[in-house]
Amino acid sequence: MIGKLALITGGSYGIGEALAKKFSENSIDVILIARSEEKLLQVKSEIEAKGKGKVWVYPADLTKVNLAELYEEISRQHDVDLLVNNAGFGTIGYFHTLDTKKEIQMIELNVRVLVELTSYFVKDRIRKGGGGCIINLSSLAGFFPIPFFATYSATKAFVLSFSEAIRRELEDYNIKVFTVCPGGVKTEFQKRAGVSEGIYRFQNYMAVEDAVNLIWDGILKGKSPLIPGDANSIYRAIVRILPISFVTKMAKLFMKKTFIKSNKNSISSGGENM
Ligand SMILES: NC(=O)c1ccc[n+]([C@@H]2O[C@H](COP(=O)([O-])OP(=O)(O)OC[C@H]3O[C@@H](n4cnc5c(N)ncnc54)[C@H](OP(=O)(O)O)[C@@H]3O)[C@@H](O)[C@H]2O)c1
Repeated sequence: MIGKLALITGGSYGIGEALAKKFSENSIDVILIARSEEKLLQVKSEIEAKGKGKVWVYPADLTKVNLAELYEEISRQHDVDLLVNNAGFGTIGYFHTLDTKKEIQMIELNVRVLVELTSYFVKDRIRKGGGGCIINLSSLAGFFPIPFFATYSATKAFVLSFSEAIRRELEDYNIKVFTVCPGGVKTEFQKRAGVSEGIYRFQNYMAVEDAVNLIWDGILKGKSPLIPGDANSIYRAIVRILPISFVTKMAKLFMKKTFIKSNKNSISSGGENM
């Protein structure tokens, strides 16, 4: 059992929504935070209709709310023992063409919000005598710098490094930490990054349910960093042994051919994040 009550950021769509459903099937109640209230309520009613778990929703833009106050409000009403830092987004394009404010907002959500919530959660768990679990969403993109995905891959490298470091520290308090590093998964992520769904033709993108089943199995086996899918584990093994200058050269060729040439909009727009 990895927890009884999970707080999931970005629980309205994609991996967060699928994790919420997976958890509830396995007797873990969930608290979901995201901006889209209507979509959160839809996920809540879908889960509760199955009669397996309880769901609470907190609609909020995590980059704009006071996280200390939000966490305090939640922990006054609930004993959260599983934190899933999942909310995140990326932009694709030549860095100089991307909206500067949006790049900063990405660092805020993917890094600052994750560190802040982790801090409140860990302090709360240790005050209560330890125990608990943290699942942080990094990415395969966290293992190497990716041209045209520069800020995003850097945020995910941060998440990987930070999470694996505190994983060792928190062993002393019986708090488990998992860094999850998926490759491409079919979610809202691509559209929000400015990539058309046509990209799925070129790439081996996983269905979100398959990715979440692999994440669930990996967590039960205690794996971290956890890379869902054999092909993704092979990519990771290859980039580990090659010089970084060669990896970035190959990544540039791949990204330019796959995303930039096949999706001209991403060069100037950097996508949407609602
Ligand atoms: N899909 C992939 O290929 C892939 C691969 C590797 C890693 N990842 C990582 O997996 C995580 C989940 O991504 P996904 O693929 O599930 O993307 P997604 O379908 O776009 O879902 C992102 C979630 O984050 C929420 N969110 C975005 N901005 C927010 C904000 N400011 N405040 C609160 N919630 C916010 C969104 O909800 P609202 O819009 O309702 O706020 C949504 O629930 C991300 O960290 C991503 O980097 C994804």
